[in-house]
Amino acid sequence: MLEAKDVIVRYDTATVLDGASLKVEKGELVGLVGPNGAGKTTLLRAIAGLINWDREVLKGTKMEDVTFEGSIEFEGERIDKLPAPEIAKKGIQLCPQMGRPFAEMTVKDNLLAGAYLCHDRKEINESLVRVYELFPRLKERQKQLAGTLSGGERQMLAVGRSLMRRPKLMLVDEPSSGLAPKIKDDLFKRVEEIYRELGVTILLAEQDISFAFALSKRNYVMSRGHMIAQGTAEELLSDETIRKTYLGL
Ligand SMILES: Nc1ncnc2c1ncn2[C@@H]1O[C@H](COP(=O)(O)OP(=O)(O)OP(=O)(O)O)[C@@H](O)[C@H]1O
Ligand SMILES: [Mg+2]
Repeated sequence: MLEAKDVIVRYDTATVLDGASLKVEKGELVGLVGPNGAGKTTLLRAIAGLINWDREVLKGTKMEDVTFEGSIEFEGERIDKLPAPEIAKKGIQLCPQMGRPFAEMTVKDNLLAGAYLCHDRKEINESLVRVYELFPRLKERQKQLAGTLSGGERQMLAVGRSLMRRPKLMLVDEPSSGLAPKIKDDLFKRVEEIYRELGVTILLAEQDISFAFALSKRNYVMSRGHMIAQGTAEELLSDETIRKTYLGL
């Protein structure tokens, strides 16, 4: 379904992705693990088309020098030259690290904003019902301003907002980051439901190895901008070098 080949992203002089490749088949949940600064977020942003967007935003600043090389295919078609909204229309949805809601808008309006590509009211309402079923907490707080949500609720809102777009492929960036164990467990179950029951293919970037490995069928281990290894949780954990050096276990 998704194939990234030899992706290079360079900011000014820093090479952030240094020939990163990965594949995700339809119906898989693939883990992307690796330490801080490995390049996980950058790879997800590159797939979602946001690196080219960076180039626009950074124009005229010291940071304007962004290089992108390599190829990204989705459902057999090159997408790496497309603008981010076109990529979203094809069914790829990035669920960003730390949530980042529209703080001055209510929870409900944030969710509705997530469905901006859809013009069918019935479909939007169905999506809203589905998100509220998955996250009753968001329904309880639908009139609350998103800026006042707790960290866990924000993360739920980010996942919910991504689902409003009915994606085929969700790129979920560290949903567990900074959450207390109980909330983490709950979010973990929701991600599993999205994958198993709603049938959404997921690429899950995580620093929390146990979170990623418990859900994923296959994983990529990333370090300093490229893939060090790939395999099932058992395969990766049985390799001592990978376990100690890259997984910190
Ligand atoms: N716009 C940018 N300009 C310069 N450097 C950047 C930019 N974005 C990211 N980087 C650098 O790229 C490296 C990889 O960052 P990235 O956010 O992709 O890592 P990550 O694997 O997601 O880490 P974490 O687990 O901490 O979220 C970091 O060293 C970061 O400082
Ligand atoms: Mg990250």
